[in-house]
Amino acid sequence: MRRIAFINEKGGTCKTTLAVNTAAWLASARGLKVLLVDLDTQGHAGKSLGLDVRTLPRNVFHLLTEPGVRLEDVVQPSAVEGLSVLPAYKEMADFPLVVAQDERRAHRLADRLAPAEAAGYDVLVFDAPPSMGLTTRNILVAATEVVVPVALTYFALDGCAEVAATVRQVSQSEGRPELRITKVVPTLYRRTALATAILERLQSYFPDTLAATPLGYNVKVDEAQSHGKTIWEYAPTSRGAEMLADIASEIYGVAGKKTGSRRARTPRRA
Ligand SMILES: Nc1ncnc2c1ncn2[C@@H]1O[C@H](COP(=O)(O)OP(=O)(O)O)[C@@H](O)[C@H]1O
Ligand SMILES: [Mg+2]
Repeated sequence: MRRIAFINEKGGTCKTTLAVNTAAWLASARGLKVLLVDLDTQGHAGKSLGLDVRTLPRNVFHLLTEPGVRLEDVVQPSAVEGLSVLPAYKEMADFPLVVAQDERRAHRLADRLAPAEAAGYDVLVFDAPPSMGLTTRNILVAATEVVVPVALTYFALDGCAEVAATVRQVSQSEGRPELRITKVVPTLYRRTALATAILERLQSYFPDTLAATPLGYNVKVDEAQSHGKTIWEYAPTSRGAEMLADIASEIYGVAGKKTGSRRARTPRRA
């Protein structure tokens, strides 16, 4: 089972957009059984798939903090075949406080997701909150592959260095030798001198992991989210869909691990 996390401590770098659409692509274009795990208080991953996360009686917070709650009690289906979501909502803000006394607090998520492999999931995709606190630490312990979306703005490189340092630190201190950054994805790309200069810097910092396709600005991507749909449901022939498919395919190919393609089919057209 692959475990792919989308992490950057900055908000608005397209973590949720890439997590949701990569998860949907893995399910529809590769026929994999995918669980999208949201850990952000805003609940945007669930919302992007049309879920009303405010009305759900239980979400990832309850799985993490109540021993009687099982994975299957909180997983929700989505309109995309093969894709399920473990939603989050504002209760997640209390998570660090509730587990403060637990020595294994950084391992909560990994422990509670342990049944996912036996439940038949091929891939776990994590959507992280915009901070490097305990929740993101839990994601780094539960994941093996880290994708860092970097919005091409002036402060972009700061966030990147921070993620790289935290990944190294967690890998050593939590006994996770396989944990590594597998892709750095430039996002909200526009052809400006500043964006080009930042891209060049990223290329020199991450020569092996920088994605070949930056996620360019495309209004259909934003619109799809506001309609609670993946880009392939909302605007399958858009430039946004094309870029997101290229990026998902790069992320899928990156580890070189064969997870199989059991129900391979082409993405559904809306
Ligand atoms: N390629 C794109 N073109 C235009 N808007 C985008 C694109 N990708 C994402 N957005 C919009 O940018 C905003 C931030 O994206 P989001 O994925 O929520 O970032 P994060 O999860 O890192 O905070 C959202 O409103 C989203 O719809
Ligand atoms: Mg987000």
